Amino acid sequence: MVAHHVGKMLDDNKRKRWLALLLESADEIGLPDDPEFRAAIVGYLEWGSRVAVINSNAKENPVVEGAPMPKWGWGEPGGPYMPG
Ligand code: HEM
Repeated sequence: MVAHHVGKMLDDNKRKRWLALLLESADEIGLPDDPEFRAAIVGYLEWGSRVAVINSNAKENPVVEGAPMPKWGWGEPGGPYMPG
């Protein structure tokens, strides 16, 4: 996945457009719209798209063999909204 972005020279304008389209698609396909889920997905997309911009400005795939996979969670947001 990282390799697909190497050399694409993405910038912040492209990143913001990509983010907006991803979130529109999330609505279109009916992904859950509760606050926790949306906070987590936006957090992930903010993280991933910024990494993609960095990788896209590299000339070679920066991932070394055996590198650990990043870990994601549900983020920090919580309360007063509580899912039923
Ligand atoms: C700054 C935001 C991003 C932009 C503008 C962007 C743009 C692109 C472009 C233009 C390609 C096609 C590359 C090619 O085939 O030569 C691509 C491929 C891909 N991107 Fe991104 N990307 C972004 C972020 C992400 C993120 C965050 C992910 C994962 C969570 C991701 C996952 C993928 C995958 C899996 C492919 C390969 C798809 C395939 O060939 O089937 N991208 N991206």
